[in-house]
Amino acid sequence: MAGVLGVAVIGTGRMGADHVRRLHEVTSGARVAAVADVDAERVKRIADGIEGCSAHTDPAAAMAADGVDAVLIASPGPAHEAALLAAFEHDLPVLCEKPLTPGSASALRVLEAEQRLGHRRVQVGFMRRYDAEYVKLKSLLETGQLGRPLMLHNRHRNVATPPGFTSEMLINDSVVHEMDITRWLLGQEITAVTVLKPTPSGNAPEGLQDPQLVLFETAGGAVVDVEINVNCGFGYQVQAEVVCERGTARIGDGHSLVTNMAGRWGGTIAQDFTERFEDAYDRQMQAWVDATRRGEITGPSAWDGYATAAVCEAGVRAQQEGGRVEVELAKRPPFYA
Ligand SMILES: NC(=O)c1ccc[n+]([C@@H]2O[C@H](COP(=O)([O-])OP(=O)(O)OC[C@H]3O[C@@H](n4cnc5c(N)ncnc54)[C@H](O)[C@@H]3O)[C@@H](O)[C@H]2O)c1
Repeated sequence: MAGVLGVAVIGTGRMGADHVRRLHEVTSGARVAAVADVDAERVKRIADGIEGCSAHTDPAAAMAADGVDAVLIASPGPAHEAALLAAFEHDLPVLCEKPLTPGSASALRVLEAEQRLGHRRVQVGFMRRYDAEYVKLKSLLETGQLGRPLMLHNRHRNVATPPGFTSEMLINDSVVHEMDITRWLLGQEITAVTVLKPTPSGNAPEGLQDPQLVLFETAGGAVVDVEINVNCGFGYQVQAEVVCERGTARIGDGHSLVTNMAGRWGGTIAQDFTERFEDAYDRQMQAWVDATRRGEITGPSAWDGYATAAVCEAGVRAQQEGGRVEVELAKRPPFYA
């Protein structure tokens, strides 16, 4: 193990500030060495709270700062390509929040640049792969006890959308997590997407097509559905049920605490993703720090980021044009085998 890992955090908004807190207070073996944000006041305020942390408005300057060994990118998706390429110039390991980049063409440019380095540098922040329930589900599938997966049912519900949330963002920002988890759980690429649109909920803001039912077909012949329902009003819920030849397995029912009182039984529902996936974010960070200190790159790769970008493009086309849209995926380079 190398010494304490000095991390430069790029983007200190909702996710970035939470990752700074996590690195500073929760993760072992790492420290926040530099932070960068185009908002000079915000970045200074965050750096002031951490001893030995420098503040920058230019991400490249943060990466070049003293004591930086690795980079965490939590700026908005359109800024990721430039930040990734800057990290590659310094040959720094990167944990990049999803999306790798917002489109498949830019994602391919990142894959090409990483391959030119000659070694993997990128882990993409698909943190559900670190959620204890998803990990159990994948382990069970891998034992083969249930037989071949035939179908996967997913539900993804949010209390409400922030202002400016568009129908495309349901695919690009929300269903993107089911795209990654489907590929990971089933070990298969997604080959086609269909989107069905019921009459919008009365809870949905004017013009937002919410909810939607998104269907994936996979290379191994499985069919996957995703209820994406982001103004359900009652809570943040992520559930998944795999239907296999010899049985089914389901996660996300949130039965960790059940109460009986006054003629009713039940529990509580998380209100947002930071609550539901808090442990997964913590485990993702610790795993990234540990692997980086060992000189390894593990977790979701730039290929996973590219493949989900390609599925998102098919999803948005299916949403806008109707019908079934095939995913256009480049050949997977042996570098990402
Ligand atoms: N894994 C997850 O569950 C999850 C959840 C939410 C968001 N995200 C991802 O995290 C990233 C950040 O999302 P957020 O919700 O924190 O957004 P946000 O808008 O709250 O924060 C973004 C921050 O980046 C700063 N910024 C903008 N352009 C920049 C640039 N070029 N360089 C440096 N900083 C810049 C902004 O000033 C802001 O402080 C996005 O990629 C988003 O998709 C992931």
